[in-house]
Amino acid sequence: MTADHRFDAAMTRALELALRGPAHGVNPQVGAVILDRNLNIIAEGWHEGSGTPHAEVVALAQLAIIPDGATAVVTLEPCNHTGKTGPCAQALISAGISRVVYASSDAGQASANGAETLRTAGVEVIGGVMAAEADHQNRVWLTATKQGHPFVTLKWATSLDGRAAATDGTSQWISGPESRADSHLRRSQVDAILVGTGTVLADDPTLTARKPDGSLYPHQPLRVVIGDRDLPATAKMFNSDAETLALKTRDLNQVLLQLRDHGVKHVWVEGGPQVASQFVAANLVNEFVIYQAPMLLGGTRTALGDIGVASMPQAKHLSVASVSQLGSDLLIIANPATSPAANPEEGNN
Ligand SMILES: NC(=O)c1ccc[n+]([C@@H]2O[C@H](COP(=O)([O-])OP(=O)(O)OC[C@H]3O[C@@H](n4cnc5c(N)ncnc54)[C@H](OP(=O)(O)O)[C@@H]3O)[C@@H](O)[C@H]2O)c1
Repeated sequence: MTADHRFDAAMTRALELALRGPAHGVNPQVGAVILDRNLNIIAEGWHEGSGTPHAEVVALAQLAIIPDGATAVVTLEPCNHTGKTGPCAQALISAGISRVVYASSDAGQASANGAETLRTAGVEVIGGVMAAEADHQNRVWLTATKQGHPFVTLKWATSLDGRAAATDGTSQWISGPESRADSHLRRSQVDAILVGTGTVLADDPTLTARKPDGSLYPHQPLRVVIGDRDLPATAKMFNSDAETLALKTRDLNQVLLQLRDHGVKHVWVEGGPQVASQFVAANLVNEFVIYQAPMLLGGTRTALGDIGVASMPQAKHLSVASVSQLGSDLLIIANPATSPAANPEEGNN
């Protein structure tokens, strides 16, 4: 059977619109367009985050009259449940939409099966159009929803020989200004930044998301520190720039569940090496963001310590999603080789 590409252009536009919504927060990024019977776009919408109308409802609201034979093209299967807003499947049925085309299936237990509701009401439904692209765009939300705890990104910066600090413990600044700007931008798109007490005691980081001019991004993630040791109240991460949570535990699964209960969908783990190693050993990392600076530090202060790999057959394999150059540094983004979060264009390598 030949693939149905009639809606690719509209879905491409809907995927662009989805990116206008916030990347952080508990809800997915979703875009929608409405087409007339000749497949011309007559309305557009996107979701602005929890508590605001969903993308398809925003698009429908642009139209005084929904013409006969209209199609709604949405990046995510229309939801089926009443949360802070009403069910989108019902809104599409009530508006008289004839056909619904969507990309990703809804992973949320309460919200899934919107397609079935639409079909039962006599609406033509085509699912899976550009699903690989949409699944990749919403990989954080889809993965966090499926695994029942936040999506975990582990970030580190090392020398080319994999050292996270020099022998005397100094590590600021291994990476260059372009890498630091990139990492602050990525911080501004997550819900929480997590470190161990060791990093706070050694570096006293602020753990805020800052623009290159030093000003704060509008969204500041929750700052989280884990470990039993008491920290000085004067530590910079306790300042008033953002909220901070100190969790006196070493149980990472408990940490993730507590973060989920705080509404965290995406946690950005910044180390240090002990905490990073434990996340890797427990197979809790969904995505690796690795900055490598063209310098050699030698010594024993590697990015990871014991991750439970004693021999080659136990190696934890990664799939490289992208490699780019930032100033003189390399940025490697990778996922566990079996992870559904891996870039669809790359395959496992
Ligand atoms: N280059 C980089 O990207 C980078 C990033 C961060 C840090 N660093 C460097 O790393 C060094 C600090 O390293 P570190 O390994 O001591 O820091 P760390 O991983 O931030 O802190 C280790 C502490 O975290 C606590 N912890 C909580 N849960 C844990 C778990 N499940 N497993 C292990 N520890 C847990 C423990 O504290 P308690 O003993 O209090 O229970 C442990 O002693 C500094 O030199 C810093 O500059 C480099």
